[in-house]
Amino acid sequence: MPVLVGRETEQARLAAVLADLRAGRPALLALAGPAGIGKSALLADLTDIADYGGRVVRWRGVPAQTQLPFAALSGLLGALPRDDAGRNGDGDGDGDGSGDARETLDRAFGRGEPHPIGRLQVGAAAMTVIARAAEREPVLLLVDD
Ligand SMILES: Nc1ncnc2c1ncn2[C@@H]1O[C@H](COP(=O)(O)OP(=O)(O)OP(=O)(O)O)[C@@H](O)[C@H]1O
Ligand SMILES: [Mg+2]
Repeated sequence: MPVLVGRETEQARLAAVLADLRAGRPALLALAGPAGIGKSALLADLTDIADYGGRVVRWRGVPAQTQLPFAALSGLLGALPRDDAGRNGDGDGDGDGSGDARETLDRAFGRGEPHPIGRLQVGAAAMTVIARAAEREPVLLLVDD
């Protein structure tokens, strides 16, 4: 891992976001900048922080996936665990209350019966799955496109 030069401000912002997450405060941070400026290097530096204390899911795009619907969401959410069926006793047969959302996402991701699904519906379903996972443990999703 190369040492980052001159990125103390950005590293401090990222550390602050991690601290928010650890304290149970949801946070979103977007890194934007020209090619080669060091966005991926900053993210790699962040995942080196070993004491996050939650689930870290990382997704990195590859050109072949540009043709796949919702490739990033599919990769990220597929890596989030779900509880065993019925474990939480919420009666929906999925265990963590995200059964309908998971089904919506499976169809949006091209699995199961083909069915047109709007982006809003996909977004809402993704939020449900993430929220359920985050009820169990802190969740950090890292996307590098
Ligand atoms: N602040 C820095 N200190 C040291 N090396 C750096 C720094 N920023 C970037 N680099 C190095 O420059 C190269 C390009 O950085 P990186 O791949 O992170 O850029 P990027 O913003 O992700 O580019 P892209 O938009 O093409 O994905 C890498 O080898 C990285 O290690
Ligand atoms: Mg990059």
